[in-house]
Amino acid sequence: MASGERIFVQAIRRYCATHGIALDVRAGGWLLAMRSRAKRHFAFGYDIGLNSAIAHRLANDKSATAEVLALEGVPCVPHHLFLNPSMGAHVAGPDWQQAMLALLRQNPQGVVVKPNEGTSGRAVFKVTDRDALDRAVTEVFASSLGLVIAPYVEIEDEVRVILLAGQPMLVYRKERPQVVGDGVHTLRELATAAGHDRGLSELGTREVNAIVPKGEQRILNWRHNLDAGARPVLMEDGEVRAACAKLAVEAADTIGITFASIDVVRVDGAWRVLEINSGVMMEALAKLHPELVQATYDAALDRVFGAYR
Ligand SMILES: Nc1ncnc2c1ncn2[C@@H]1O[C@H](COP(=O)(O)OP(=O)(O)O)[C@@H](O)[C@H]1O
Ligand SMILES: [Mg+2]
Repeated sequence: MASGERIFVQAIRRYCATHGIALDVRAGGWLLAMRSRAKRHFAFGYDIGLNSAIAHRLANDKSATAEVLALEGVPCVPHHLFLNPSMGAHVAGPDWQQAMLALLRQNPQGVVVKPNEGTSGRAVFKVTDRDALDRAVTEVFASSLGLVIAPYVEIEDEVRVILLAGQPMLVYRKERPQVVGDGVHTLRELATAAGHDRGLSELGTREVNAIVPKGEQRILNWRHNLDAGARPVLMEDGEVRAACAKLAVEAADTIGITFASIDVVRVDGAWRVLEINSGVMMEALAKLHPELVQATYDAALDRVFGAYR
């Protein structure tokens, strides 16, 4: 097995090897071509190939996800779409800048600007003033055709639900990197010692160089992306897990998706959907629970090949 190969590819390799399925790994591991005795099947990126084209498109588009969920009354974080003016004035419309400023005015706590089809927290900015909004918009439009603006919400907890055909397979919290002060060391020193110095630049020099009072907790990144240092923590059975799973099932039913990774957030004590991904990426979780990740991909592939073996 090639070193550095994604867990997703390793899991599919393992499934194919134990089920008599031939596998060709192409395009640097991004295209997986499987062939059982009776069936040809492809996986692409982190997409195992169980979702309809329209479910995949809705999920990958943060604005479309939010619109469809709102139509059906499923609680979610609203995402307003702005198309890149580089595609033509008629595409972006004449008032896009005014509309963005209006959103900023309506949300004094700030707004989040991000690519409409983004992943992994790349180019996700929290802004509270006009200059920062301009910078964020320029940066997102430099590499994306669509941008979304969401009101900034104070997330108390972010939970990921991996769903297969209406069944929650895995439910885990994402714990942001944090340190606890000792009254001696600065935030930078504590973060570096804990291996979390990435992303400190966003916090501001004064905060980073200040000594953290003993016992005080400091969250190092306002985003919950696992790629950016957050840690997956499996949730125990109970009311909270059940509430997250129920909301995720409603969201999945609404967009008609079979295999998905659904992120829900608790804001002011109530759960809402933040985003749905039709590619199911579990690279971070696999470091802690490889057997659970393999079992989930196995179950998904059983739905693909089950009837044909
Ligand atoms: N409107 C928002 N308010 C507060 N935090 C947000 C908001 N939108 C995103 N975030 C934070 O940023 C992270 C990345 O945003 P997300 O919408 O999931 O984009 P990506 O697809 O890049 O992961 C989320 O995990 C969340 O912690
Ligand atoms: Mg995300």
